[in-house]
Amino acid sequence: MEIVARSTNPLTLKTDCLVVAVTADKKFSPTTASIDKACDGLISRRLEGKDISGECGSTLMLHEPAGISAKRLLLVGTGSKTLSTQEFLKIARSVAKLTKSDAIASVATTLAEVEASDQDVRWTAQQLAQQFGEASYAFNGGKPPVASKLKLKKVTLLCSDRKTQSAAQAGLNYGEAVAIGVNQARLLGDLAANTCTPSYLAKYSRALARKQSKLSCQVLSEKQMADLGMGSLLSVTAGTEEPAHLIALDYKGGKKGARPIVLVGKGVTFDSGGISLKPGGKMDEMKYDMCGAASVLGVMEALATADLPINVIGVVPAVENMPSGKATKPGDVVTSMSGQTIEVLNTDAEGRLILCDALTYVARYKPDTVIDIATLTGACIVALGSHASGLYSNDDDLAKDLLDAGQSSGDRAWQMPLWDEYNQQLKTNFADMGNIGGAGGGSITAACFLSRFTKDYRWAHLDIAGTAWLSAGPKGATGRPVPLLMEYLRNRASA
Ligand code: BES
Ligand code: MN
Ligand code: ZN
Repeated sequence: MEIVARSTNPLTLKTDCLVVAVTADKKFSPTTASIDKACDGLISRRLEGKDISGECGSTLMLHEPAGISAKRLLLVGTGSKTLSTQEFLKIARSVAKLTKSDAIASVATTLAEVEASDQDVRWTAQQLAQQFGEASYAFNGGKPPVASKLKLKKVTLLCSDRKTQSAAQAGLNYGEAVAIGVNQARLLGDLAANTCTPSYLAKYSRALARKQSKLSCQVLSEKQMADLGMGSLLSVTAGTEEPAHLIALDYKGGKKGARPIVLVGKGVTFDSGGISLKPGGKMDEMKYDMCGAASVLGVMEALATADLPINVIGVVPAVENMPSGKATKPGDVVTSMSGQTIEVLNTDAEGRLILCDALTYVARYKPDTVIDIATLTGACIVALGSHASGLYSNDDDLAKDLLDAGQSSGDRAWQMPLWDEYNQQLKTNFADMGNIGGAGGGSITAACFLSRFTKDYRWAHLDIAGTAWLSAGPKGATGRPVPLLMEYLRNRASA
């Protein structure tokens, strides 16, 4: 699919579907007004006839409109006020869905001129490209992806002048790159756990690095992790037949020697709970317990695609959590790479056990900032549902940057506390800490656990348990928080 910005006349443009914004109060933009006029008042009449309300999100497909060259005219209501970010995204998403049809090979739209709160045309174009890109995602039952069956081959973003056109094109390019990252994260998430094993993630990462000249890949074996003293991470993999790997992908797009931003993604390719076995219902969804890793791998590909001038290292501890005669037992005490000892009170709180060693490991990169991304706790779903990721940070400026990036990408996060009172809940008689914090505040105590391993650098943690995949309607990975991270990184690269 090709997506381009052009400053051509919408009245004479040959396209299968022209998408225009209409408002409830009929105060049209000059472009919409000119199309309405060319069509002899068709748009006004449909609004008067209540075929479309014009409210934000309302749509109406008109076929063979007389007076213009387009085969179809898709009217999209934008209400009458300036749109919020979320509202614009809702519109972009529904346009991308409605034009996904066997009959439509080309789409043109004037939606670049729609105003969303404080956002410019670059942003608008980016979101449109991203939504068209995401709508093209198709999971091929785990078989190798076939060439896209999508009929849609060309999307044209109509701009009023050359200056808008070049800003829009920059946004389109970035949006396409973000969509590649989102779709890749979704694909890895949706893959079955017997395909997407730790070894699969390692192989995938090596192949990605081979494809992109600015990416290099290093994979540590269990033996190497043992030599580094990663007793906590290795305790999680003790029960499985699948070998664990620690993957590092290094993207060098920025200045030589500039400190990197490090992303650490939880890569539990299947979380059975281990000896603290999970109940059977919905256990299949624990194939998604590597969505943090998938988001990191998606971001690495998107960065290379967008050629962003920044240094980023993506680190993925990849393991499977299974019960067996060799598995770690509740009450076992393990020593982390940091030297701190941990009493494994519940083998199902395994994400923090692999992340703590990965977080200690990444100090060697002398990071500017470290962000970990993890489907860490069911408690985060209780707290925030599926609309916001839980955000924790030891640095208020970083927290604000991430909240802002979430807001402007529509991939929102909400900050939660790391207070000492919660940290105290990790106390135990038998080690430096337990791996669970008892009743209440489960997402917070998990974050407090991680904070004990991130004292030497600026750090944030995203608990994406509620946002990484949807359980129904239809079930599938969302690719979040790739959009948030790509927005944050774009801001950092241009700062
Ligand atoms: N991967 C799960 C968290 C999870 C559960 C994410 C359901 C999304 C949906 C994590 O490893 C886990 O099992 N956490 C436990 C922690 C508890 C034992 C303290 C949980 O949330 O129940
Ligand atoms: Mn678990
Ligand atoms: Zn887990």
